[in-house]
Amino acid sequence: MPDPAIEMLEITKIFPGIVANDKVFLEVEEGEVHALLGENGAGKSTLMSVLFGLYEPDGGSIRIRGKPVEIRNPNDATALGIGMVHQHFKLVHNFTVTENIVLGLEPKDPLGNLDLPSAEKKVAELSERYGLAVNPRDLIEDITVGMQQRVEILKILYRDADILIFDEPTAVLTPQEIDELLDIFTRLKAEKKTIVFITHKLREIKAAADRCTVLRRGKSVGTVEVAGTGENQLAEMMVGHSVNFRIEKKKAVPGREVLRIEDLTVIGAKGVPAVQNLSVNVREGEVVGIAGVDGNGQSELVAAIAGLLPVKSGRIFFNGTDISHESIRNRNESGIGLVPEDRHRHGLILDFRLDENLILKSFRRPPFSSHIGFLNFSAVFNHAKDLIDQFDIRSGGGPATLAKSMSGGNQQKAIIAREIDLSPALLIVSQPTRGLDVGAIEYIHRRIIGERDKGKAVLLVSFELDEILNLCDRIAAVSKGSIVGILDEDEADERKIGVMMAGVGAGGSHD
Ligand SMILES: Nc1ncnc2c1ncn2[C@@H]1O[C@H](COP(=O)(O)OP(=O)(O)O)[C@@H](O)[C@H]1O
Ligand SMILES: [Mg+2]
Repeated sequence: MPDPAIEMLEITKIFPGIVANDKVFLEVEEGEVHALLGENGAGKSTLMSVLFGLYEPDGGSIRIRGKPVEIRNPNDATALGIGMVHQHFKLVHNFTVTENIVLGLEPKDPLGNLDLPSAEKKVAELSERYGLAVNPRDLIEDITVGMQQRVEILKILYRDADILIFDEPTAVLTPQEIDELLDIFTRLKAEKKTIVFITHKLREIKAAADRCTVLRRGKSVGTVEVAGTGENQLAEMMVGHSVNFRIEKKKAVPGREVLRIEDLTVIGAKGVPAVQNLSVNVREGEVVGIAGVDGNGQSELVAAIAGLLPVKSGRIFFNGTDISHESIRNRNESGIGLVPEDRHRHGLILDFRLDENLILKSFRRPPFSSHIGFLNFSAVFNHAKDLIDQFDIRSGGGPATLAKSMSGGNQQKAIIAREIDLSPALLIVSQPTRGLDVGAIEYIHRRIIGERDKGKAVLLVSFELDEILNLCDRIAAVSKGSIVGILDEDEADERKIGVMMAGVGAGGSHD
């Protein structure tokens, strides 16, 4: 047997207050595709950052191809043939593909001048060999996110890496781009490259990985052969208990129209329209989903409905009334609830206690306030205890805990608890389960369907197609700020929505 490409033995990494890696063990064979699976916060990125020399471990040792090594910085890692594609790309946008790839390693001709043509040639060869279809002369700003990711791959191949680490590479891709990336993994493997990729998606592991190592709360759970392991078993290893993926729900019985958006245009942070001529509606008793890759106008759409961004043109109707220019507070009080995407800025007051945060929108009313405006502290406290129970909000100190001392996942649960508890006529939920574990996701999904079944209108924005398909009765795909098509639940599948997310209308294929 040849030596394994990577052996990480009892790796420990401690951050203030948290053991991110607790004697973690990882062994990766030469030439395999190895998935690193775990929930948010399980310690996956930390482990790979140790391997790439970004973090110095507090304990444990590493062997590469059988030899004990010390990887003190990314240069050490590069010298050992290890390359990493990060979650957020590090490309210079007004440089070409080749200029980005050679950055820091500029090829010189015999006279010492920059020799870009020879670099372009090498980039073109690598692109061809691994089926990447990248044009060496394109500007980064002109190519898609999927292509930018391939440039990152080329960047490490150009430096002769044969161990390639990917940190959640599929999080930024459309379903079609994901399939293409998984094909690229196969090509890399055929060329004897070793791949470690981080994910929390079981489908991707089944599609592309030979073996899978699971981390849970900083500890190794084990390594399995993917072929002999079912998705349920992987999920159970990941979260520590069995999981129900599909929630039981009846066919929706929609009633009156609650939200109507007509021809909406909203200007985004860059001063250009982020939402363009967008029209969609949501009725009582249905969940309408906005499916799309991050950054296609979803945030601005939600902000405009909530009153956080002005409407440039078009109109927003709530229960038949034009609210396009209504104040945020009036929108809240008329029955629009929002679980915002950015929980720090719009969800919680971090210097307030948890129980206070849980009544931010209802403190003016009984039982929390008397008719002369005194706060009823025991009602506030008991209300918090009830929601903490229902939503399993873990805060350490109960209702009195300061919001800022809670973990991100528990802050998120607190916002969802507050908004669902108010049971508004229109509930807008943006990325409701990002950062939550599978058990919490299941519970929140059930509560969202519960609101639907009470006759509420729900607008769900999510980058997770599984979540959209699981919850929605109608699905609108957005691309570049416009709706490309709307499908009923029973005609929607991942492939169709994926095509629309890439900007091609329903039934509008070009072949
Ligand atoms: N630079 C850091 N400083 C402090 N805590 C960190 C840092 N990086 C990660 N953590 C914490 O370590 C734990 C593991 O994080 P991470 O490795 O990013 O998890 P994953 O990639 O599996 O989602 C989390 O609780 C996270 O909050
Ligand atoms: Mg991570």
